[in-house]
Amino acid sequence: MALRHILFVEDEAPLRTAVAEQLADRGFHVEQAASGEEAVDRLSSFAFDIVITDLRLGAGPDGSAVLDEARALYPDIIGIVVTGYGTVKDAVEAIKRGATDFIQKPFQLDELLHVIDVALEQRRLRTENAYLRKQLEERYRFEGIIGKSAAMKELFALLETVAQTSSTILITGETGTGKELAAHAIHHNSPRRAQRFVAIHCGAIPETLLEAELFGHVRGAFTGAVATRAGRFEEANRGTLFLDEVGTMTPALQMKLLRVIQGREVQRLGDTGVIKVDVRIIAATNHDLAKMVAEGAFREDLYYRLAVIPVHMPPLRDRKDDVPLLTQHFLAKYGSALARDRDPGLPPPQVGIAQEALRHLMSHAWPGNVRELENAIERAVAFTGGHRPIEVRDLPPAIQAAGASIAPLDMTIPEQGFDLPGYIDRLEREVIARALERTGGNKGAAAKLLNLKRTTLVEKLKRMGRAEAPRAS
Ligand SMILES: Nc1ncnc2c1ncn2[C@@H]1O[C@H](COP(=O)(O)OP(=O)(O)OP(=O)(O)O)[C@@H](O)[C@H]1O
Ligand SMILES: [Mg+2]
Repeated sequence: MALRHILFVEDEAPLRTAVAEQLADRGFHVEQAASGEEAVDRLSSFAFDIVITDLRLGAGPDGSAVLDEARALYPDIIGIVVTGYGTVKDAVEAIKRGATDFIQKPFQLDELLHVIDVALEQRRLRTENAYLRKQLEERYRFEGIIGKSAAMKELFALLETVAQTSSTILITGETGTGKELAAHAIHHNSPRRAQRFVAIHCGAIPETLLEAELFGHVRGAFTGAVATRAGRFEEANRGTLFLDEVGTMTPALQMKLLRVIQGREVQRLGDTGVIKVDVRIIAATNHDLAKMVAEGAFREDLYYRLAVIPVHMPPLRDRKDDVPLLTQHFLAKYGSALARDRDPGLPPPQVGIAQEALRHLMSHAWPGNVRELENAIERAVAFTGGHRPIEVRDLPPAIQAAGASIAPLDMTIPEQGFDLPGYIDRLEREVIARALERTGGNKGAAAKLLNLKRTTLVEKLKRMGRAEAPRAS
């Protein structure tokens, strides 16, 4: 059986540490949270299998709020509520809101273990039989952009505001962070939405052609110009022009673009007259344009014209709490694609993901950002064919090696760096948990197995169990 990860939320410290220790002895990986706030924080960075929470938690969010948060992030998580005397009504209420089971204080460890066993069995049956039922909630999306992290909520608010203006926008961000998606979202929320959204990928077109593409040309303007053609600026008139990969433009073209932006008129190649245009420009780049300006590779005046409103798309590794939601989104997307390709006589495919696989997704550094995640899910769904939930083995090798398991020593350090203390911390937790699993929770035997003194192991377990222990993000 895979190692089970439990988050134990309880504000009474002695009870919390005692139960956590007993559960750890039984081979569970337990982390503790002393308040609702702490619990919510832990949940945002780690995909637990089970959350056990006291209903009353002093100040801050209470147990039901913790459960709501847990279920919003992980629809398949097991929620167990601990209640005091005379609060069965609250427990029933919690069950109605999605808790799997409840247990009353004071309880014996065996009672709790029984509740956990039953819940795990229920979940196994549920993930085997069920397919996605949970629709993504409106508030976690802006147009096609999904996210619930603080960074993304902030971004949605910014996009909504800037959509109302006609200002030029510069969208920056690493590859796959959703720059093009954001450009669409802005256009579709702007007063220009009824007009055209015209996109041009500046990096993909040779310079000579790019100029003609942007500004148009008259017949005979250059070899091959067999007819007069309007440019993209004209096509986008009264609408939005999306200049993707604007950092790749040559200095000559940068200069022409600047003139058009300032003069609001274009001249077709080979023509003498000018044409007035009313175009909202959204530019995007994954280059560091400010640095290019400093190095003289990009015109400073154009940079300021473009970056009237800068919008930055945060990398996925900085908002890991978006991973479960994005995963659900892509599961739904590729699950229904599977359904469409299928014989209508067959039962609808089930698309789900094992919590352990989700943990790997959350540990991965995602150099390719959301696009990489989307590709990973698409691939995994194809492997399962919708016959079973996605397991770790269905994920691309780089992701299988991430986080929850031990990465091979010949790993290469990713471009954006590597969190060594976090890695060592995870490694230690994982190895200790496996040793305890092997010895059925016997600490003495586990210590021997790991060449540690028993007291050292006990110390480490205490430290790992402490709520303020280093994050295994
Ligand atoms: N927040 C998000 N929610 C849902 N899908 C997303 C999100 N971000 C990106 N995607 C998806 O990821 C893929 C890449 O997004 P997009 O093309 O907008 O990235 P980009 O920043 O323009 O990348 P590049 O710099 O490589 O062009 C697309 O399929 C897009 O739909
Ligand atoms: Mg792009």
